[in-house]
Amino acid sequence: MNVFITGAAGYIGGSVAARLLKEGYKVRGLVRTAEQAERVRALGIEPVVGTLEDSDILSHETRLADAVINAASSDHRASVEAMLDALAGSGKPFLHTSGSSVIGDDARGEWKSDKVFAEDTPFDVAPEKAARASLDKLIIDAAQRNVRSVILCNTMIYGTGLGASPNSVQIPPLVAQAQKSGVARYVGKGFNVWSNVHIKDVVELYLLALKKAPAGSFYFVENGEASYADIVASIAKRLKLGAPQPWPVEEAIKEWGFGHAVYSFGSNSRVTATKARKELGWQPTHTSVFDWIENDMQLDAPVVNPR
Ligand SMILES: NC(=O)c1ccc[n+]([C@@H]2O[C@H](COP(=O)([O-])OP(=O)(O)OC[C@H]3O[C@@H](n4cnc5c(N)ncnc54)[C@H](OP(=O)(O)O)[C@@H]3O)[C@@H](O)[C@H]2O)c1
Repeated sequence: MNVFITGAAGYIGGSVAARLLKEGYKVRGLVRTAEQAERVRALGIEPVVGTLEDSDILSHETRLADAVINAASSDHRASVEAMLDALAGSGKPFLHTSGSSVIGDDARGEWKSDKVFAEDTPFDVAPEKAARASLDKLIIDAAQRNVRSVILCNTMIYGTGLGASPNSVQIPPLVAQAQKSGVARYVGKGFNVWSNVHIKDVVELYLLALKKAPAGSFYFVENGEASYADIVASIAKRLKLGAPQPWPVEEAIKEWGFGHAVYSFGSNSRVTATKARKELGWQPTHTSVFDWIENDMQLDAPVVNPR
């Protein structure tokens, strides 16, 4: 089977591509630069140099493929429209990478929410997340156009990437901030809780979804949860720093920008992935983000500021 994947040099896309190659799939992957092209080629991915703005490239590659996996962005609407238009009527799979900050609240680290969302739990979408929620709906509705569209709504993914990029988008920036300043910090009081999941379990779910998820389906992806205060305490322990400190959200916004400070690091995002376990037979095995931080996390991999 030939799969076209966007974000092939990234953390999720690169990891999913590596798993697909191991399974015997042929993978063509969108990358932005010649340097990224060389890196992914060395891993066995056939690079396609372009961007999410290049709708002609996306349409062409989508038509060539038996399945498409979108892992470059949870929010880039025009590229999704181009790929869905090219898939319409084909019945082929389109897996999209969304993120559970779409149900995030405005806790700013001050409280733990008691709400745990399943896929069918109704929720009010924050204005900043309206575009993502609307894009997710467009993708689910593509089932009516005979596309086997599937959304994997990931929580906080941890673990070392399996492809060209080792670092995820939440824990590594917290580590980098602590290394830079010598103080491990969480937003507000750090009481807010996020669900989380190891990258090796994530890629198994992408594979299962590619094989058998029904058209128009949406799955949360988690296998545990932790408060930011506990995660940052674990980071401080690993870095041998003093006790973690609260960080006013205004200071965090200066470092990471509003979206990341308030949603990625300051909100609650608690979900359950019972549906993926029941419907697809997903059996995640990694249960402790703390174990990974304290024993396995690489400290020398370059971190891109999430801004
Ligand atoms: N990691 C998580 O825990 C997590 C959880 C939920 C949702 N998400 C979302 O899933 C998406 C992928 O996450 P990730 O962790 O894999 O991020 P990542 O490591 O930054 O990977 C994204 C890849 O896509 C590429 N890309 C981004 N915009 C592009 C564009 N306009 N044209 C071409 N390529 C583009 C990036 O290229 P460059 O390197 O050149 O920028 C990068 O190689 C993001 O939207 C993220 O917010 C991530």
